[in-house]
Amino acid sequence: MPGISDILSSLEREHRLRHIPLITETEILDLSSNDYLSLGSRCEEFREEFLDRFSDAPFSSSASRLLSLKQKYHNAFEEYLESLYGKPALHFNSGYHANVGCIGALTIPSTLFVCDKLIHASIVDGLRIAGSTFKRFPHNDTAKLQKIVEKESSRFENIVIVVESIYSMDGDIAPLRELVSLKKLYPNIILYVDEAHAFGVCGPRGLGISEQLGLIDDIDIIIGTLGKAAASAGAFAVCSSEIKSLLINCARPFIFSTALPPANVAWSMLMIEKIVGMQDARIRLADLSKEFSDRLEAISGKPTGSSTQIIPYLTGNAENALAIAAKMRENGIIALPIRRPTVPPGGERIRFSLGADMNIEQLLPVFEILNGMNL
Ligand SMILES: Cc1ncc(COP(=O)(O)O)c(C=O)c1O
Repeated sequence: MPGISDILSSLEREHRLRHIPLITETEILDLSSNDYLSLGSRCEEFREEFLDRFSDAPFSSSASRLLSLKQKYHNAFEEYLESLYGKPALHFNSGYHANVGCIGALTIPSTLFVCDKLIHASIVDGLRIAGSTFKRFPHNDTAKLQKIVEKESSRFENIVIVVESIYSMDGDIAPLRELVSLKKLYPNIILYVDEAHAFGVCGPRGLGISEQLGLIDDIDIIIGTLGKAAASAGAFAVCSSEIKSLLINCARPFIFSTALPPANVAWSMLMIEKIVGMQDARIRLADLSKEFSDRLEAISGKPTGSSTQIIPYLTGNAENALAIAAKMRENGIIALPIRRPTVPPGGERIRFSLGADMNIEQLLPVFEILNGMNL
């Protein structure tokens, strides 16, 4: 049995030992953050409005949602989301809690989960913790998914198809229209879409790819997270009132964890109010992302595969990813190397994520560094 030091040495040998970054300078270009609308860097602008409107919001919930007496802002948040999506919503403490909780609650007898190969670790953990029966299909391969559904749909009462709308490491988009068509062929399909990286960024009000494609009513569970474009913390599930009731009763992270402070939930609500009106920022971000991706393709000679603000630069191995990240760092740019287990072997990369308030001139050093490194 390997001991703790063996595990750490082997991570070090494989260039996979992680450290919490210690960054003190302010003059840096951060291409690692998920602050896609650049709202996080503008928080000061909204401080006064927040204090005016929400000065009574407590800084602790002091109990879980099922026990807390301080629910006013959680309820208002959920009502506001319901007014946007036209469907009930339930607040969670984080996207991690939301996925673990929702997957666990949906793990009822005779349920098969069929998940995209690249789904987020929080969904995988949800499946493992709940002991769910699950299969995975190759990334974005609807033909293979359909084959699994054809074979399994008569053997299970429910088939839950789980995808992300924008994939967190690849920046590509799930074929949601095709998935909705598939769902219409099989009455026992539940469609589950994690919009963590699309909430705020896509759709005319920023509600995600589901809104952009007019598919909100066709998706059974939409997960949105609040720590990325929404410049806050927490998450939510949008679903039918029946599923909401199941989640309230069976999602263990919802039941057994102290609810986020009402002050934080009020802040999330304020940020979403801003997001709804930020279509100009969404368009700016999409244009910048396209230009950035085109320039990376010209350097590498390979498609990035991304059509969003998350743009990978594949490095072939962890060593190259670390070397590029270090060179960027020397030049005041934070671009984190992504290695196993976040991506499979060979998928090591630099993951660039852009923000709406950046511009291409600021990003020129990135291309100069990559051109100069010849890796
Ligand atoms: C697709 C996806 N879902 C869920 C999460 C978890 O969200 P949170 O950071 O709110 O726990 C992440 C976060 O990084 C994510 O990328």
